[in-house]
Amino acid sequence: MDKKLVAANIGMQFGRAHIEGALSFGAEIGAICDLDEQSLQYAGEKYNIPEDKWFTDYHDLLNNPDIDIVTVAIPDQLHKKVSVDFLKAGKHVLCEKPLALTREDICDIVKAAEESDAKFMVGQICRFTPAFVKAKELIDSGVIGEVYFAESEYAHDYMHILKDWRSDPLRHGVIGGGCHAVDLLRWLVGDPTEVMAYGTHKLLPAVAYDDATIAIMKFPNDIIGKVFVSTGCKRDYTMRTVIYGTKGTIICDNTSPVMKLYEIGENEMATEAQDIPVEVNNHNAAAEFTVFAENIINNTPVLANALEGAKTVEVCLSIVESAKTGKPVQPDYNF
Ligand SMILES: NC(=O)c1ccc[n+]([C@@H]2O[C@H](COP(=O)([O-])OP(=O)(O)OC[C@H]3O[C@@H](n4cnc5c(N)ncnc54)[C@H](O)[C@@H]3O)[C@@H](O)[C@H]2O)c1
Repeated sequence: MDKKLVAANIGMQFGRAHIEGALSFGAEIGAICDLDEQSLQYAGEKYNIPEDKWFTDYHDLLNNPDIDIVTVAIPDQLHKKVSVDFLKAGKHVLCEKPLALTREDICDIVKAAEESDAKFMVGQICRFTPAFVKAKELIDSGVIGEVYFAESEYAHDYMHILKDWRSDPLRHGVIGGGCHAVDLLRWLVGDPTEVMAYGTHKLLPAVAYDDATIAIMKFPNDIIGKVFVSTGCKRDYTMRTVIYGTKGTIICDNTSPVMKLYEIGENEMATEAQDIPVEVNNHNAAAEFTVFAENIINNTPVLANALEGAKTVEVCLSIVESAKTGKPVQPDYNF
């Protein structure tokens, strides 16, 4: 592709991070879109986007030949419709996480992505968080030996961000926010083969779902794991993640400037923890956009593709089901 990549950005709240990601890459902003005119105006003025590129209806962009890539940051319930419409129109799509909220919707997106010549990426941003990128590097290089246990938590107080669509029973905290921790473990150690979960509900009376859930799970290669999700916790946002290996241990977080690495020293005992400084950047939209744009330009495979997003949601749905039925659930990865 010789010309500059042209982006259209849909959804002007969290979606402003996508505008910044696109601009940092050097893409041109061909259109911004939001149902809410005030939000549209705010973003348009903030990023100096000419008014003739402001839209309130995304359908007006489907057949715009100038637009190459569309970023979608609107309520989760709408991801399917908007992503599928743009894929069918031949636009590359970067859609926010979670891919969608139901089995039917994730299957539809996987199908549309398979049938389209355009590329699709799901915004599982933890795959671009510096501490987690470093953890993956360390695991893959064998520094901590063979992984036998991995845990991640998503603890984020939603008390004051419970807008209508976030309190929809379909938008269970395990899917909406917990998908970050689930996707991270999948990326680091593989696809869970079975999950068993328990939930409780003491903090968010405004929602119909459990606000705290713990899931234990089995992974391939005899790895066991755990995910804890709390969407009402009384503490700062954290995604503390620990990976235990036969030769060492990694402790990291998306909100800490230091990660810890234990390695084997004398007598097979762990050395003192080594502090590794890392940038705190838990919404690394610049790296996310850059990787996707390079996939498009070089026609290379997208790692966080629709199938990956679907597998993550399927594990989340399995956790919710297990907590409800009290029975172990084997995720079904056939979409
Ligand atoms: N990666 C992350 O860590 C992260 C963080 C926050 C939000 N998100 C995701 O981003 C998405 C948006 O979240 P948010 O916090 O910005 O939500 P929000 O409710 O604050 O904002 C959504 C915006 O979308 C607009 N909108 C709704 N329907 C629309 C439509 N059909 N066409 C155009 N605009 C429409 C609304 O007017 C609003 O301005 C969600 O999927 C959420 O899960 C991801």
